[in-house]
Amino acid sequence: MILIDGNKVAAEMKQEITEEVKKIINNGGKAPHLAAVLVGHDGGSETYVAYKIKDCEAVGFKSSLIRYEDYVTEKELLAKIEELNNDDDLDGFIVQLPLPKHISEQKVIEAINPKKDVDGFHPANVGRMVIGLPSYVSATPFGIVELLKRYKIETNGKNCVIVGRSNIVVRPLSVLMSQKAVNATVTVAHSRTENLEEVCRNADILIAAIGVPEFVKGNMVKKGAVVIDVGTTRVKSDLTKSGWKLKGDVLFEEVAEKCSYITPVPGGVGPMTRVSLLLNTLLSAKGEIYK
Ligand code: GUN
Repeated sequence: MILIDGNKVAAEMKQEITEEVKKIINNGGKAPHLAAVLVGHDGGSETYVAYKIKDCEAVGFKSSLIRYEDYVTEKELLAKIEELNNDDDLDGFIVQLPLPKHISEQKVIEAINPKKDVDGFHPANVGRMVIGLPSYVSATPFGIVELLKRYKIETNGKNCVIVGRSNIVVRPLSVLMSQKAVNATVTVAHSRTENLEEVCRNADILIAAIGVPEFVKGNMVKKGAVVIDVGTTRVKSDLTKSGWKLKGDVLFEEVAEKCSYITPVPGGVGPMTRVSLLLNTLLSAKGEIYK
């Protein structure tokens, strides 16, 4: 079994991005600029946004953090988005999800100019991705495909089963995995799938993105399968300083001994998600998606 080291691949990619930023600046250009909008004080969102800002610094990007308390109105937030859409210095921005219940996430996503939507959540980017046009691809699916590519894992003609149905991960990933660059045969399975265990056992590449800790057990995995764990549920822990730890969607102890490759949690998909956002911002700065 080979443990897929997302930290190592992400570090390589960050190095490549850093080199590109240096080139841009040496040629008289400006550093790519990413902004993040954070509403409220959700622990997970605080952590993710702090990482995004730190990652920008690490590769030489400019970053901006815009914070609101959770009582901000939808109108105020939409006005800020309009301002960011029109900020010529900004290459891209994200609004960290989830948002408080009184704000429509869909309205917010659709208010973002697709040309600055480096999260790739806007229907225009999702639609462009589906039909194979240049687009910002959402970070986790992009990161997973890149991880498979960089580990030279055979995907051509392979059976890929993705468990889950989220718009951010599962839908785009199912499309990417079936496109010509990857060539897998894709099944999207979920809580209503009949014989789910058997469907999973058919997978050469099994991707767990259901958001239920340790959902995928040893008896759901074919011997020699590649297993990608997208789960990042925070569970209480007495063993860590923070009082919580991350749990994946795969029961690692049982599955690791059956598969050929597996991503750990943490240190597998997570770092790739982070670096993919940087890559989208770089693509925007270089004008490579919307020409
Ligand atoms: N919440 C969880 N993941 C993400 C992400 O990739 N982008 C944003 N904006 N919010 C998230």
